Amino acid sequence: MTGKFIVIEGLDGSGKTTQTGILINKLREKGIKAVNQAEPTSGEYGKMCRDVLGGRKQCAKSQLALLFTLDRIDHNLNKEDGINYHLENGETVISDRYYYSTLAYQGIDVGASWLKSLNLDCRDIRKPDLCIFLDLTPQKSMERINAGRSAEEIEIYENIKALELIRERFRSIIEDLGESENIKVIDAGGSVEEVSREIENAVMSLY
Ligand code: TYD
Repeated sequence: MTGKFIVIEGLDGSGKTTQTGILINKLREKGIKAVNQAEPTSGEYGKMCRDVLGGRKQCAKSQLALLFTLDRIDHNLNKEDGINYHLENGETVISDRYYYSTLAYQGIDVGASWLKSLNLDCRDIRKPDLCIFLDLTPQKSMERINAGRSAEEIEIYENIKALELIRERFRSIIEDLGESENIKVIDAGGSVEEVSREIENAVMSLY
């Protein structure tokens, strides 16, 4: 039996990392083999993406969009740790971020239709069995990001504006992809237990 390919998306602070860890444990308790992965990956193109995001390297925004896409192709095909490799081994793959992030973040700069075609029409980029979007208001997202830190008001304002824009992009991408994809939007504002139960229900509907 091949495994399932599940993607977790959401704004920073939406709890993706925590919830991915919980989901992996729950699946393993049920005897389902599952592996935890993330994009950008630790591979060659993923490292280049992180260098650009961290300001250590510069490139054009269109080049960064291509780097994320190259990293995604490698994530699919990599013979040692790729999505296809694990699925063929009967393992379920949970990826923290996937092409929805490229459409949301890079789509702002370089146009969503080009990126949509580049990713969704690419034979080497697999469509997930399920994408879970952890939806959180930018205010709550900022509160979680800033928990225990003090920040200048202006900075908070600017960050909330950026998060609002990204959230709007995610929501319009989800609407646009509509019936062609299995996307479940989950309110990430609840307790860790509530959110993890909803995720579990959505995931178990695949088995
Ligand atoms: P990371 O440090 O892994 O943070 P997170 O826990 O939020 O995923 O950084 C990932 C960053 O990369 C995040 O800010 C979103 C960005 N990103 C894109 O802009 N495009 C993409 O296609 C992907 C996969 C990530």
